[in-house]
Amino acid sequence: MAISVLFVCLGNICRSPLAEGALRQKCSEAGIPMIIDSAGTADWHEGRPPDDRAIAVAEKNGAAIDHLRARQVQANDFHDFDYIFALDEQNLSDLREKMPDNAPAKLSLLFDYVDGQEGQGVADPYYGADEAFDQTWREVTLAAAALCQELGQ
Ligand code: 4NP
Repeated sequence: MAISVLFVCLGNICRSPLAEGALRQKCSEAGIPMIIDSAGTADWHEGRPPDDRAIAVAEKNGAAIDHLRARQVQANDFHDFDYIFALDEQNLSDLREKMPDNAPAKLSLLFDYVDGQEGQGVADPYYGADEAFDQTWREVTLAAAALCQELGQ
């Protein structure tokens, strides 16, 4: 069975769809089969595509994320996914509250898998300039490479 991975941020329109796109790209390049999805702790953007600036930065870097649609994280996600990666500390604490007792998913911060950057969050680019999305792409790409290395054996 392929390993399954869920990325979770607040709105599921900026950071987590970019993380999903970056990991899909890395896995495809490396020929690693992985089930990859993303969700938000909030339901504010349910059913909507990613933010235009996220779509643009992904496209510029060879990844298509415009077909993705936002959804809120569900209780069954904690049973259905092997790994759930929170993009920042607030997302992690919200996920801990939502996680059903005895659910098997391994829950952590995304950057806990990046050597030397454990405990760090990916900053929210939503209220930032376009360059903030370039920074987000760099961060999620770095993390995606680490996940391929760690989980893709
Ligand atoms: P994300 O960014 O959590 O990376 O998707 C945000 C998207 C929307 C909002 C906040 C953060 N918002 O306030 O609507």
